[in-house]
Amino acid sequence: MDDPRPYDLTVDGRAVRVTARPDTPVLSVLRDDLGLLGTRTGCLQGRCGSCTVHLDGKAVQTCSLPLWSVEGRRIDTVEGPSPTLARVREAFLEEQAAQCGYCVNGIMMTVSALLDEGVRDRSEMLETLDERHLCRCGAHPRMLRAIDRLLEGAA
Ligand code: FES
Ligand code: FES
Repeated sequence: MDDPRPYDLTVDGRAVRVTARPDTPVLSVLRDDLGLLGTRTGCLQGRCGSCTVHLDGKAVQTCSLPLWSVEGRRIDTVEGPSPTLARVREAFLEEQAAQCGYCVNGIMMTVSALLDEGVRDRSEMLETLDERHLCRCGAHPRMLRAIDRLLEGAA
């Protein structure tokens, strides 16, 4: 196993240096090294989507993403300063869309990435969410209301 070494990356607009082994999952770096607990730990198997962040603007899961692969790149978490993400957080809050909080942060990251990519079609958005995220609480109706609110505002 390779020894720890320093890695430079940008997280939520801030330049950070993390010293860790190259195969360390980015999820661990965010939560354990940087204290960004908004990025949730779920299945750790790439199935639930709760660990989703933006990597150079694209929604990606971080539980099996190795640190070496994000060197020099930009990561934005649910705690980040993106104006689109701020709108998404507000809409989800207004609709009280979270139940247990396991899934919702990751879902908001995918929704905001899709909005930034210009997705305005409800079906396309829901299909992507269905593929990438798992909600065990049945909070979907409230999330859908938040998404509708966002799509109406973005139309
Ligand atoms: S914790 Fe990463 S996909 Fe479930
Ligand atoms: S709100 Fe609990 S899993 Fe989605």
